[in-house]
Amino acid sequence: MLLGVNIDHVATLRQARYAGMPEAHNAEPSVLGAARAAQAGGADSITLHVREDRRHMQDADAFAVRREINLPLNLEMGATEAMLEVALALRPDFVCLVPERRQEVTTEGGLDVAGNLDKLRPLVAALTANCSRVSMFIDPEEEQVRASAAVGAPMIELHTGRFANTLGAERAAETARLAAAAELAHSLGLEVHAGHGIQVDNLAELTAVPHLTELNIGHTLISRAVFIGLEAAVREMKAAVTALKW
Ligand code: PXP
Repeated sequence: MLLGVNIDHVATLRQARYAGMPEAHNAEPSVLGAARAAQAGGADSITLHVREDRRHMQDADAFAVRREINLPLNLEMGATEAMLEVALALRPDFVCLVPERRQEVTTEGGLDVAGNLDKLRPLVAALTANCSRVSMFIDPEEEQVRASAAVGAPMIELHTGRFANTLGAERAAETARLAAAAELAHSLGLEVHAGHGIQVDNLAELTAVPHLTELNIGHTLISRAVFIGLEAAVREMKAAVTALKW
């Protein structure tokens, strides 16, 4: 199981103080430093989301990580022409297409691939031609899985937000939905990833979802890093992931 580490919230913290001057000599914390710490802790890739409103990661952060960090880079982005231009210049190893609404705190729902086939097909083709492998961040729904295959994406990332935010019967039902979506995706030849709200405490239940090859984890790692540092937080998560049978 691969561990992708999302370091957006390191930039969130920097922007809280240095929004007008993210590249100033005294701006902190360092996004590059975070990527290095994640790598030292055992991250298999670095994920960052350059949002349309640039609320946390700036374009310069993405280019610096691309240039300086010797790990695969996964760019999360909205499906827009403006972001396509950034991605074509950045050439990340992976692009994860996500929905974006300005008012949301974080990515709240999956991308409506089925409702945007004609818009997404050329976008996926352009990114693929530029050597980025594309995944679709989707809710665990049959039509979204089928649509992801139809637009030519080789991978999906299943949205685990509802799984993470519920307990008991509701969580069991959501786990079953995730498992069914993963099974279908695998049968269609798609690689299956998962992300959103994953924590050490809910990892074991996630093993019920078959065919997962990568987890993308952010918020809990940055939260834990406040107390033990990012390298240790990533190492702890990596150990917890590796200890389970997937
Ligand atoms: N995957 C995607 C596509 C996301 O948008 C996010 C949140 O930015 C994550 C994974 C990570 O979620 P979390 O921060 O809850 O671990």
